[in-house]
Amino acid sequence: MHVERFEKAFLILSAAMLLTFLGALFYAAWGMGHMLPDREAEIIPAEVTLTPPFDQPGIRQIGENHYEAVIVAQAWAFNPSEIRVPVGARVDFLVATIDVLHGFSIEDALVNGMVLPGQVTRISYTFREPREHLILCHEYCGFGHHAMFGRVIVE
Ligand code: CUA
Repeated sequence: MHVERFEKAFLILSAAMLLTFLGALFYAAWGMGHMLPDREAEIIPAEVTLTPPFDQPGIRQIGENHYEAVIVAQAWAFNPSEIRVPVGARVDFLVATIDVLHGFSIEDALVNGMVLPGQVTRISYTFREPREHLILCHEYCGFGHHAMFGRVIVE
């Protein structure tokens, strides 16, 4: 048995795997548009409901088929808990928490972020088909965590 030959084979295999994974990473980021949520701004948790735009949570149109959804997260609800948008709408979600850490994830959409006390989370997504999406809190936030959800209705 010649060991060095296997060594060379494993080196080539390792390099090929690294290149494959790097390629998958770049494809996910630029080809499919998977991006980390931006760090938008800082906010004082106790003053979220007094600080614009979080003093008026809800959805508003900011351009042609472009909306901004301002959502306040708290134990154990999203305010508002239901958002209606037309098909094809690009929605910029701005989410802030008034208490503990929450999660903000929309099923079957590339929306998945943490809502950290003191930070504003911004995630954008374009809804391309008429259907209902569940919004889930996926960070354990206490006794009522499992009941913390909302809906995006694309109509
Ligand atoms: Cu909010 Cu879990």
